[in-house]
Amino acid sequence: MTESLTATKKARLVVLISGSGSNLQSFIDACENGSLNAEVGAVISNKVGVKGLERAAQADIPGIVIDHRAFDSREEFDENLADLIESFNPDLVVLAGFMRILTPDFVTRFLGKLINIHPSLLPAYPGLHTHQRAIDAGDKEAGATVHFVTPELDGGPSILQARVPVEVGDSADSLAGRVLGYEHQIYPKAAQWFCQGRLAMDAGVAVLDGKPLDENGVIFNQASEQ
Ligand code: GRF
Repeated sequence: MTESLTATKKARLVVLISGSGSNLQSFIDACENGSLNAEVGAVISNKVGVKGLERAAQADIPGIVIDHRAFDSREEFDENLADLIESFNPDLVVLAGFMRILTPDFVTRFLGKLINIHPSLLPAYPGLHTHQRAIDAGDKEAGATVHFVTPELDGGPSILQARVPVEVGDSADSLAGRVLGYEHQIYPKAAQWFCQGRLAMDAGVAVLDGKPLDENGVIFNQASEQ
């Protein structure tokens, strides 16, 4: 499907959420203002009543809940989730605060068209509590990274990374809030590269405009065109 993506054709996205959906909102806004040549075909949440579903409704996007607690196993949930996603025939599947560990079978079904944003400077700090870990380690910089998803948790190749200074007196919350503002800029931008057919995953490496990216991906620079 990636092959058919061009500069002109609108890509179809499915966005997976579990909560607030502020990153989802950045996709909705980018689709509306034309900086992302795509449409969000569906929003899928594993939790009922979350703010992200309100955002979907507000934008007239179908919002579907598939509650993981209704399934006997992780495998069964993931298989049903994958079938649901495929029913929308997406070009790209976007994890936006989807708080579930995905099975290798699920990831393999969408390999190369499944992306995530993680609130750390990957490959540093996979997993949870990233901002507190950065503060505890005395890091001067924190940030967020858009990456392709592979079966290894937060271990897929990095695409685009925003670096954000840690300020004196920062708490995990204050740092998270500042990083989130950058997430909203880098996530739709990385998706746009994919939708333009400029970005792909090849043999486990992220490739942009034919060039393999290094372990941090492209470093976001607000001032440059990218
Ligand atoms: C963000 O911090 C993102 O990096 C992480 O989950 C959070 C989602 O926030 N993967 P939101 O639901 O998009 O507001």
